[in-house]
Amino acid sequence: MHKPLYSDPADHIESTDPVRVSRYRGITRLNHWVTALSLIVLALSGLAFFSPHLYFLTGLFGSGQIARWLHPIIGVVLFFSFLLLFLQMWRLNLPKPEDTTWVSRIGDVATGHEERLPEMGKYNAGQKFIFWAMSVLIVVLIVSGIMMWQQYFAGLVSIPVRRVATLVHALAAVAIILVFILHVFAAFWVRGTLRAMTRGDVTGGWAWRHHRKWLREVAGRSSKGPAE
Ligand code: HEM
Repeated sequence: MHKPLYSDPADHIESTDPVRVSRYRGITRLNHWVTALSLIVLALSGLAFFSPHLYFLTGLFGSGQIARWLHPIIGVVLFFSFLLLFLQMWRLNLPKPEDTTWVSRIGDVATGHEERLPEMGKYNAGQKFIFWAMSVLIVVLIVSGIMMWQQYFAGLVSIPVRRVATLVHALAAVAIILVFILHVFAAFWVRGTLRAMTRGDVTGGWAWRHHRKWLREVAGRSSKGPAE
């Protein structure tokens, strides 16, 4: 049998085996999940101290004392873990002119009319908002947390300042829990996104639909791939 002189490359792309675009390296994914787990542990232990009604949550850690001891330590883990993510991602989260259009067409985002939106880079304005909100809130939490950490920093601030720090810490904690819920909701809501942080890649269709400018940049780069 003769081999065809010309074979269309599209013939080899089957719908069950879509083109994959690399989005995150393994080390970045590990970094992300350490950060995520830290925030979950902090939220659960922190909520336990927030109200007597939630004190039962200390049961997850063995006892109230263990939860109280663990909470600030994991706070330090979160800070450094997020810092590593921040150093890798801050540039890609800087505002761009197309972000203003994206925000002004938020209705189209919500209804899935992405054809009416400008082409997006690696992150859209919503993701950028979450990134910067998390960055600011984590700094506020670590600074106010250290002011409250009497085991190591007892004489650092006066009692009235420590009281203000406690209030600021609680408000920032509520805010970051809300931002966290938004982030997780978006990760599940936009189908195909989760695998970016689990397997490290997305389908070509996902990239084309949601982050076309990024896909074009990636396609123009070396075959080594875009993972960051
Ligand atoms: C169970 C909880 C979480 C889930 C399911 C989740 C899921 C994801 C997914 C799927 C992505 C990739 C999005 C994309 O590339 O388009 C992502 C990115 C990211 N996540 Fe999470 N995440 C969780 C918790 C967290 C927490 C707690 C933090 C920080 C405190 C965090 C910080 C980030 C950052 C900084 C990015 C990069 C996106 C950007 O810079 O805007 N995530 N997450």
